[in-house]
Amino acid sequence: MTIFAPKPRKGIVLAGGTGTRLYPLTLGTSKQLLPVFDKPLIYYPLSTLILAGVREVLFITTPEDQAAFRRLLGDGSHWGMSFDYAVQAEPRGLADAYVIGRDFLDGAPSVLILGDNIFFGHGLQAMLERAAAREDATIFASHVRDPRSFGVVEMNADHQALSLEEKPERPRSNWAVTGLYFLDGSAPDRAAQVMPSARGEVEIVSVLQDYLAESRLSVETLHRGFTWLDAGTHESLHQAGEFVQTLQDRQGLLVCSPEELAYRRGLITLDALELLAVKLKKSSYGQSLAELVAHEKSQR
Ligand code: DAU
Repeated sequence: MTIFAPKPRKGIVLAGGTGTRLYPLTLGTSKQLLPVFDKPLIYYPLSTLILAGVREVLFITTPEDQAAFRRLLGDGSHWGMSFDYAVQAEPRGLADAYVIGRDFLDGAPSVLILGDNIFFGHGLQAMLERAAAREDATIFASHVRDPRSFGVVEMNADHQALSLEEKPERPRSNWAVTGLYFLDGSAPDRAAQVMPSARGEVEIVSVLQDYLAESRLSVETLHRGFTWLDAGTHESLHQAGEFVQTLQDRQGLLVCSPEELAYRRGLITLDALELLAVKLKKSSYGQSLAELVAHEKSQR
């Protein structure tokens, strides 16, 4: 008898784009490699994927920036993970991630995260695990003052999605769709059907509308105490850095450290974490990892 185990969920980080809203910062490098206080922006969405239980990740970058991402992240084995890379020649839109990622996904369910989205808050892991366990699609909505620059989801009183629109002039709710999408194995086929919108992009919202039409879209709402940032402008990048600095300084704990999360999820041993900390020991980031190692050893 053959037993078919479900394919493990794979992750995609979409880290291409031109970063024009951050010029001149992004004239010489990728937005997702810029610092958010003590670590590159890309570490934050990657941490969310690790928290979601993903072990295989595809990074989609511009052709020019791929070498720098490889230098920073390698093959993932040092964090007990496996990293692949693909290029997107033009920013054709977010749904393109599934067209580019089709071979990598190979029919597996996925979680796509935008390379400039930062999630932080109590209860995140439980929310991610709930989404990962669902066969249907899940999106995460955050209440914002002005939703016109986001995807917007309208919901009923039970938080079931009623409609979805990309950057509407007259939004039907204040719930922005964040850049984190849990989709099933049919996502590449659905994405391949999407036609470019009026702004010339293949919109992720079109893929989500497809799931909604089949009543297969769940919405998780991020509660008040939760922080969701997209670091796409000078102001938001700076604010994100200040937020991370304040929190880390106050609590003495790292925010979104892939090394720490890989250890906590059992992907690497304490000895392996210690080696990683030693390599970075001249920076405060490395020192924080060393403190974590010392603390964990004292608990044994
Ligand atoms: O941040 C959440 C929002 O992200 C959602 O509410 C919207 O529904 C979604 O369309 C997206 O809106 P943005 O206007 O923020 O998308 P942006 O074009 O800035 O792209 C987001 C990130 O994805 C950015 O870091 C660059 C990268 N990207 C974007 C496109 C269009 C790519 O790597 N390739 C692309 O083709």
